[in-house]
Amino acid sequence: KKRIGVLTTGGDSPGINAALRGLGKAATGVYGMEIIGFQDGFSGMAQGLTVELEGSAFSGILTTGGTILGTNRDRPDRVIIDGVPQDATSQILQNFDKFNLHALVCIGGSDAQDSAYYLMQRGLNVITLPVTIDNDLPGTDTSIGFDTAVEVAAEAIDRLHSTAISHHRIIIVEMMGRETGWLTLAAGIAGGADVILIPEIPYHTEKVAEAILKRSHSGKRFSLVAVSEGAISQESVRFFEKARLANRRLRQGTEQSEVEQRLEEIEKHAAGDTLHLANRLEDFTKLETRITILGYLQRGGTPSATDRVLATQLGTACAALIQEGVFGVMVGTRSGTVVTTPLDQVAHQTKTVPLDHAWIQGARLVGVNLGD
Ligand code: F6P
Repeated sequence: KKRIGVLTTGGDSPGINAALRGLGKAATGVYGMEIIGFQDGFSGMAQGLTVELEGSAFSGILTTGGTILGTNRDRPDRVIIDGVPQDATSQILQNFDKFNLHALVCIGGSDAQDSAYYLMQRGLNVITLPVTIDNDLPGTDTSIGFDTAVEVAAEAIDRLHSTAISHHRIIIVEMMGRETGWLTLAAGIAGGADVILIPEIPYHTEKVAEAILKRSHSGKRFSLVAVSEGAISQESVRFFEKARLANRRLRQGTEQSEVEQRLEEIEKHAAGDTLHLANRLEDFTKLETRITILGYLQRGGTPSATDRVLATQLGTACAALIQEGVFGVMVGTRSGTVVTTPLDQVAHQTKTVPLDHAWIQGARLVGVNLGD
């Protein structure tokens, strides 16, 4: 009997449990495999902490949010056990053998892909499922969880509309998505946002303010601004360019300096400076401005029907691929069909929104301001 291990790692996302259910039901019910769940991602696997996945474990979880296995941001080479960070690669490799595993399924977003690739390079049979609200993974049209997050965020924009209209305010709604704008763009379009700011298009604050003023002068005294946590203004881009140049002038040699690495980090965090944006817009337009940060609401709760279907399709396909002996790939979907992509083409890669994407064109054509 083939025995497979499964874990969830990185940020949770609606549809993880539905994917586990698809995988588990097909693996045990159709292919006669055994399945072991590891608790809390790689730290659990390193410590051999398992979750019972027999009998009715896969019943009643299709509609539930979160992950029944638990998760965290640990990587095989950096797990935190009892508060102490450590490299657990060797324990993980040992436990793969100890539990007599034929394959390990890693479920999650970019963290899961990076870690699975790392373990694949160390000889393990790994296979992954793309589950993230960010939709930032190459190798699949959509990742599991994205559709639900778009629904939640679009509903939030709907609700914010009535209060913005009543108070004649600008409401800025910040959404997740890391360095990509998929979620904000989709939810912004679906919710009828007037301005959509995404990391792929650094924005000019004045152009946003002018667009809002124009609306206000035409009698629309409210505006909804959807902004990605990773969106960055042109001013910030220029600031970081200057800082990098100054740093390069100061140092010799070609190695990336610590200062430069630090600048990159700061740039990531400076992105999404929604409070700054709100202050600038209020100054410019003299319209009262409020902020709503959707945060973890976008990740919690029951998956949408579309995500349940996708999770079931990919979870069951994953079991079939293991049966066929296909490893070292992420299981995704293209135009409704299951496709596999080698992990080296997924790990450490980010799928950003192409500037000529149809959603961007559509947004422009209905008059959305994208800050450029
Ligand atoms: O990757 C999913 C995500 O929700 C991102 O959109 C967000 O930037 C990040 O995770 C938040 O991370 P954490 O759960 O560690 O706070």
